[in-house]
Amino acid sequence: MSETSTTGRAAWDPPPSAAALKGEAITISGLSKRFGSVVGVDHVDLRVEAGEFLSLLGPSGSGKTTLLMMLAGFETPSSGTISLGARDLTRVPPDKRGIGMVFQRYALFPHMSVAQNVAFPLKMRGMSRAESAPLVEQSLARVRLEGYGGRMPGQLSGGQQQRVAVARALVFQPPVLLMDEPLGALDKKLREELQIEIKTLHASLGVTIVYVTHDQEEALTMSDRIAVMDKGRIQQLGSPVALYHEPESSFVADFIGKMNFLSGTVAGLNDGRIEIDVSGQRVSVARSQLGGRRELGRGQAVRVAARPESIALVQASDDAIPVEVETSIFLGSHRTLVARTTDGTQLQVQLPFARQAAADEPRGMAFLRLEPGALRVFGAEG
Ligand SMILES: Nc1ncnc2c1ncn2[C@@H]1O[C@H](COP(=O)(O)OP(=O)(O)O)[C@@H](O)[C@H]1O
Ligand SMILES: [Mg+2]
Repeated sequence: MSETSTTGRAAWDPPPSAAALKGEAITISGLSKRFGSVVGVDHVDLRVEAGEFLSLLGPSGSGKTTLLMMLAGFETPSSGTISLGARDLTRVPPDKRGIGMVFQRYALFPHMSVAQNVAFPLKMRGMSRAESAPLVEQSLARVRLEGYGGRMPGQLSGGQQQRVAVARALVFQPPVLLMDEPLGALDKKLREELQIEIKTLHASLGVTIVYVTHDQEEALTMSDRIAVMDKGRIQQLGSPVALYHEPESSFVADFIGKMNFLSGTVAGLNDGRIEIDVSGQRVSVARSQLGGRRELGRGQAVRVAARPESIALVQASDDAIPVEVETSIFLGSHRTLVARTTDGTQLQVQLPFARQAAADEPRGMAFLRLEPGALRVFGAEG
């Protein structure tokens, strides 16, 4: 540890004030965007709380960028309203919204130094160099790039460049930061490091962040809440834990984490519980395990969703699911067994003991049992 940093700030000085940012809530009502006959965003209602980290998660084309662009003011809504705190933003131009932005391809200006890049939004607001210099240094310190102001973007790694982009977005102390796949161009290891860095930065700043990603692991890692989008709509909004354990549709169940789907038939309904036959096992589930709150009748076909960690390898039994083991994959912290049921459904099962000897690995016929309390049940039509 050196006594002074490259900025000359003594190591025992307190860090630059991080409390200056105050998040504001965003309220989105009935927001739609049509491009001719294409619907980009379809009647979205969403409230992002002040200081919250909210991710928009969905496959390509689900409307994430279009929604973010309307928040930023670069796309005009076809209908609906957006407000920031008590202020109606719907007709406010982008540069008057006071919102920070980081985009995957919103590259730094290559001919400007890091400090000039970070100072740019302040210069646009008419601030002199003398006034902006301490703010620039403070913003670089927030992303742990103190002393990098004199470098050119081309001299930095991809991860450092995105940190500069974050410093630039935060330099005018916006109440809201919008990020569209900011880590999309980085390799996996660096992406994971920056996910934690941005999450930590968010926790220390209190700024409201709306973060777009198609990567469910990234969304689970970083978010207070996630809005899962498909076809321009929010399919489900909730905490990472709620989305993982209580998906309301098979789309969300499939999109978040690894999920196995098995065909089942309703065998009976009693005392508010539902008995389902699934590939040789009878399970009893509570109504609260039904996704989408549909009514079920005896004999009805359903889709039963089970996480790999909610399926166990068991001794042969007439109340277990017979499978043919296809392969087993060593993944360090656990082993994944890949097996096929007699009706041809492939299942992935997480086995906890990664250290077991290769000779003990299951082969050929095996039996599996679903943990009934951890299942989700959907209509067969999806
Ligand atoms: N400028 C545009 N003109 C026409 N269609 C567009 C335009 N921008 C987006 N779209 C369409 O709107 C839908 C949502 O796109 P987008 O918001 O970019 O999705 P995502 O960011 O989730 O991948 C897609 O069908 C896309 O083709
Ligand atoms: Mg996009």
